[in-house]
Amino acid sequence: MNYRHAYHAGNAADCVKHALLVVLLRAMIAKPKPLFVLDTHAGIGAYDLAGIEAAKTGEWRSGIGRLRQMPPPALADFHDLVGDTDVYPGSPVLARALLRPRDRLALCEWHPDDAAALKRRFRGDPQVQVHWRDGYEAMIALLPPPERRALVLIDPPFEKADEFATLAHTLAAAWQRFPVGVFAAWYPVKHRAPVRDFFADLATRRMTDIIACEVLLREPLDPARLNGCGLLIVNPPYGFEAAAVPVLAALRETLGEADGAATITRLADE
Ligand SMILES: C[S@@+](CC[C@H](N)C(=O)[O-])C[C@H]1O[C@@H](n2cnc3c(N)ncnc32)[C@H](O)[C@@H]1O
Repeated sequence: MNYRHAYHAGNAADCVKHALLVVLLRAMIAKPKPLFVLDTHAGIGAYDLAGIEAAKTGEWRSGIGRLRQMPPPALADFHDLVGDTDVYPGSPVLARALLRPRDRLALCEWHPDDAAALKRRFRGDPQVQVHWRDGYEAMIALLPPPERRALVLIDPPFEKADEFATLAHTLAAAWQRFPVGVFAAWYPVKHRAPVRDFFADLATRRMTDIIACEVLLREPLDPARLNGCGLLIVNPPYGFEAAAVPVLAALRETLGEADGAATITRLADE
């Protein structure tokens, strides 16, 4: 396991993922029933933008650094939750910030050092469970939850060549166990072909009600670069799409180049 998120925290892809995560969670906590949030690839929870790793790549400067210079109104909620300090919150800290007292958060992380750091961060928090565990395996084991309402965030590092296939396969297996769950899976867009293949693979698996929210920073022509990313959402909650449109447009406008794009594509009907 070579991937360490500390080198990439707060970059443009993180901003897209986290701004959409906030929209998803807001839509889900609008209903009073208890919610279970499962973050299958959680990282360490929060990242030091003044640290050695962040400085080495400087990626955050073209992500949260750019958003902070002139935060667009559509991203105000995300920006307020992130704050203006050197600590950039990852998905666990953002999700925790939005939980109500009746909600639960389960975090899985497979890197031993990162899992230990995550355990330290949430020690003593009765609403958060941290697992040093394979997130794909946990996604099957922990679903369906007793609450019968859940948001599952799947955010793998994509360092393995078969990650798209593993993601499609595991997502379909988890959906079989819990077809009413809301699943949000992050994916990179380097060039179009792997994403097209991923969508084609999903289409063979009979899942319903799927959308893909994408922000392209530029035309995805150079496969050596991360040219954009997407969040695939199964069972998007009521109100999500309408709320996501201005958020995606603001992300594209602030973080993208002239030939960037922001789209919501429906991949499977309800
Ligand atoms: C993109 S990072 C996660 C970032 C985090 N979700 C956030 O938004 O703040 C991916 C994480 O997955 C971890 N990881 C890799 N393989 C895993 C697996 N099979 N199960 C759980 N975690 C894994 C990596 O160590 C890394 O911390």
